[in-house]
Amino acid sequence: MSGVKTLSEFIYERQEDFPFATGDLSNLLNDIVIASKIVNREVNKAGLADILGATNQENIQGETQQKLDVLADEQFIAALKNGGEVCAIASEENDDYVAFNDQKSMAGKYVVAFDPLDGSSNIDVNVSIGTIFSIYRRLSEAGKQAEEKDFLQKGERQIAAGYVIYGSSTMLVYTTGRGVNGFTLDPSIGEFCLSHPDLKIPKNGKIYSMNEGNMAYCSESIQQYITYCKEVDKETKRPYSARYIGSMVADFHRNMIKGGIFIYPETSKAPNGKLRLLYECNPMAFLMEQAGGLASTGDKRIMEVEPTELHQRVPTILGSKNMVNKLLSFY
Ligand code: AHG
Ligand code: MN
Ligand code: MN
Repeated sequence: MSGVKTLSEFIYERQEDFPFATGDLSNLLNDIVIASKIVNREVNKAGLADILGATNQENIQGETQQKLDVLADEQFIAALKNGGEVCAIASEENDDYVAFNDQKSMAGKYVVAFDPLDGSSNIDVNVSIGTIFSIYRRLSEAGKQAEEKDFLQKGERQIAAGYVIYGSSTMLVYTTGRGVNGFTLDPSIGEFCLSHPDLKIPKNGKIYSMNEGNMAYCSESIQQYITYCKEVDKETKRPYSARYIGSMVADFHRNMIKGGIFIYPETSKAPNGKLRLLYECNPMAFLMEQAGGLASTGDKRIMEVEPTELHQRVPTILGSKNMVNKLLSFY
């Protein structure tokens, strides 16, 4: 085991850098680690369950997928409630936020917003999916029930954020505002091990990721930028490669490592785009900026958007600094 640093070791090591830290955030992060290991186990079994159960493949796949969305949601809620550091959660799978009523949780300092399974339409075709989480310090009084305002905070107030990618290997990538670190799950020991210390996105990239099927509904700026991506130019190494998985976590992860841009813009059909500010865009924006990239709605920094509702959507641009700036120059 020499030379291997586990995620739990790393979390507590970092905690020592803050002399007045109580350990609550470290415990909270460890709750997330536990839930993600359980979800990882279930995600890994999804195909197997199909093989065993299916006579009517379509129904079973639909059902399995739904079950996994709900199961992931339940696992994260259970782990966060159990930990006692969190007074409320908000997730994609719940219409409203869930405030915990037990004394220990009500004393909790933090709220967590999360997307339990991102890209869940990819489960039935065995393509990478993920979990995204975002942590804030509560605004309401500790000891009382959490309020909606605890979640309606700008992204720049996030205390920590991260994602788990259930891919060819499972990874957890997170930030507490001091850089981004990535950990790969070693299934033989059941531990996330530090594999990608201090992740930085290259300033330039050669990959653009957008659902180009929506081009007809996109603004002229977006259309012009996509045309630019496809032009031949030796100096700027164009045409760029188009890569789009349809799981934001997976598209983001690839682009962060290789350099690239991810775009889910506003369209005439969806004036605010598709992705949700609280549990998809803000956490990814925090990670992207911490990795040295940019995160914009096209109009402003994603993390400066004032949230007005839990499931609010915003146009989303995330990626390498020079690529995002180039796209913005078309606006
Ligand atoms: P979710 O599965 O949590 O609903 O999120 C899916 C999101 C995101 O992961 C992905 O980038 C995007 O939807 C894909 O949307 P399109 O199919 O419209 O391209
Ligand atoms: Mn999602
Ligand atoms: Mn989801």
